Amino acid sequence: MNKGIAIYPGSFDPPTNGHLDLIQRGSKIFEELVVAVLRNSEKTPMFSLAERLEMLKQLTDDLRNVRIDTFHGLMVEYAKSIEATCVLRGIRAVSDYEYELQMALMNRKIEPTLETVFMMPADKYSYVSSRLVREVAQLGGPVKGLVPEVVEQKLREKLDPAYKLQQTNVIEVPRRRKKKA
Ligand code: PNS
Repeated sequence: MNKGIAIYPGSFDPPTNGHLDLIQRGSKIFEELVVAVLRNSEKTPMFSLAERLEMLKQLTDDLRNVRIDTFHGLMVEYAKSIEATCVLRGIRAVSDYEYELQMALMNRKIEPTLETVFMMPADKYSYVSSRLVREVAQLGGPVKGLVPEVVEQKLREKLDPAYKLQQTNVIEVPRRRKKKA
């Protein structure tokens, strides 16, 4: 196990099975892994920051050396503030490489002591991205197997208001008592 703190930064909108796979792999390599969710005021996410944090917390509940946090501004500054020495990022396919390389080198330029470590998620998740999951779910397609069950449920609730209503309407309405004669 690698000594020290690593951060796994991202948008996680929503967390996918690919993200979870990487968190599990990272947690075996690093002493502590901080999953850092970007607070980005420019983008309007599908899931609020609070919702993403809640989902990630539930998903990583069994991983004792993983914690969830948020950050804004430069990722390297945040990494420095929590004394992280590594950044973990996933590479699914060659198409990810160019963007990830650019980002890693830019981060290295700003903070030469922070290393970026790339890991590959399981190949069955190599085509899974949050963007595609959002698109498929929004168009009514199935996302089973692409996201954890809690996320699937949240997507269903968000995209089908009737579903949420159905779930909240299970409370029994108390019957009126008959007036005494
Ligand atoms: O899950 P994503 O959207 O691919 O994550 C991208 C993220 C959040 C890691 C990246 O946009 C980031 O680090 N943003 C923080 C601002 C920053 O440091 N920008 C310079 C990157 S070289």
